Amino acid sequence: MAVLKLRVVPDPILRARAKKISRIDASVQRLADDMIDTMHQEGGVGLAAPQVGVLLRLIVIELPEEDEEARVYINPEVVEAQGERRVEEGCLSVPGYRGYVLRSESVRMKALDRHGKPVKVKADGLLAQALEHEIDHLNGILFIDHIKAHEDLWKLDQEEKEPTPYERLHQTLHIHNQPPTQPQQVGTEASVV
Ligand code: NI
Repeated sequence: MAVLKLRVVPDPILRARAKKISRIDASVQRLADDMIDTMHQEGGVGLAAPQVGVLLRLIVIELPEEDEEARVYINPEVVEAQGERRVEEGCLSVPGYRGYVLRSESVRMKALDRHGKPVKVKADGLLAQALEHEIDHLNGILFIDHIKAHEDLWKLDQEEKEPTPYERLHQTLHIHNQPPTQPQQVGTEASVV
């Protein structure tokens, strides 16, 4: 098991569409384990394979309130989404930023588990949010694409002292430093998917 290098914006691999996994072999198992290690190291709730430079349809998720081992989903597909809610969100590949996006209240998803067994998942709350966020990654979509107004994206204060490879993004989007309003919050750590 190993911690993999995390790809961050503007790495073009984050904008590519990932391919379906046709055979779940040892390399896929190892990738899943390494992604779990990487997610733990980076303090995220979820991770998609393109974020570690692999264009395959594989995501891992581990919710803070769950004791079980991390969820591994191969070729995940949302088959039904209901409702809408505004949530705070971040992404390990867009470090230092948070935003308010609209996500479904609940989703039904189908996928294969790490052994290739078909699974169906009905999710709401943070799990539904994480599933939508990670499946977006497989299609080259980032949470910043869901930002409707530029004041809905802001930079975290504690990140501002760091060198900023994201300066261009910052300028392009005219990002504010503070959230304009305080709608429903999910935990700050928990929202980094
Ligand atoms: Ni992400």
